[in-house]
Amino acid sequence: MNKKTKILKADNQEDLLEAVRILQSGEVVAVPTETVYGLAADAQNIQALNKIFKAKNRPTNHPLIVHVASFAELSKWAKDIPPIVSVIAENFWPGPLTLLLKKHDDVNDVVTGGLKTIAIRIPQNKAFLKILNLLDTGLAAPSANPYKRISPTTAQHVMSGLSGKIDAIVDGGSCTIGLESTILDLTTDTIRILRHGPITKKMIESVLKISIESPDIHLEKVSGNMKSHYQPYTKTFLMSLAEIESYVSQQKNKEKVFGVIHYSNFDVSSNNIKTIQLSSKKASYSKLIYSALHQIDGMNVNEILVELPPSKDSWKDVLDRLSKATATDH
Ligand code: TXA
Ligand code: MG
Repeated sequence: MNKKTKILKADNQEDLLEAVRILQSGEVVAVPTETVYGLAADAQNIQALNKIFKAKNRPTNHPLIVHVASFAELSKWAKDIPPIVSVIAENFWPGPLTLLLKKHDDVNDVVTGGLKTIAIRIPQNKAFLKILNLLDTGLAAPSANPYKRISPTTAQHVMSGLSGKIDAIVDGGSCTIGLESTILDLTTDTIRILRHGPITKKMIESVLKISIESPDIHLEKVSGNMKSHYQPYTKTFLMSLAEIESYVSQQKNKEKVFGVIHYSNFDVSSNNIKTIQLSSKKASYSKLIYSALHQIDGMNVNEILVELPPSKDSWKDVLDRLSKATATDH
């Protein structure tokens, strides 16, 4: 069914009230967060939750993150909350950190994809927090992209992926961080990072004063845990700059057009190469990498070549997302 997708403005109070009304009526609305745009629905309304899965074409056993306005609300969604959560919340909430806790018995199984655990965070984006404060429920919100595609960091990205499938988008401009939240599992004896993100292992350890784990392989149902994800439509490869240079020069006469996303200096001028240069600083790079992938994917190139990010700990989330953007499932 094709709907007319309305654009609402994040800095307009009337528009935010309209977003609230649409959410209360059981529809889905894309909202800005500091990480990526989310596709929000009332986390207590099963029919509304099903509309998220339908619009994204996402399998229903993939659990959603519940966003809440304040720490006091945590106990409505989770049980047996360990005391360490208050230390974590004090330091990192509102912000790009999602906690995995034991699900409260009253919470429906649709939002958690049938799991006994629940992912929850307090977001930082002002408009999103206003919407949450105007509601007396939490909002489930996965990234507002079609399943397996690149996450959206502008309202235009959401529009190009989900236009006609959702009622409204709250346009809050570009996301300030640009990569999905870190997911931290507090449901087992050892604290583990399940998805790398803007809040790094080091940052968490320095606050908790204990070491935590970040296994490369774990079995949790995190979309970040699928090999392929966040993918452009164009075939995409991750290579060092030297590899990009030699690959492109080998293919010179094959009439292929390459899109190159890089942060080091790259001076190949040739009419079969289109380039986007990003900053070599982590925060600025993260903010724009999804945009660059969206943009280059629309440039009519045959292959996208992305420069391998630095192998520093603070770039782990970037490497994780790019590895998934370039992976094949076989
Ligand atoms: O920054 C973010 O986290 C964004 C914004 C919108 O908040 N949201 C986001 O949602 O990235 P999504 O659905 O694209 O990714 C959330 C991840 C999924 O991979 C999901 O599998 C995992 O969280 N997750 C949610 N509930 C879980 C649970 N109970 N156990 C394990 N993983 C869970
Ligand atoms: Mg996602």
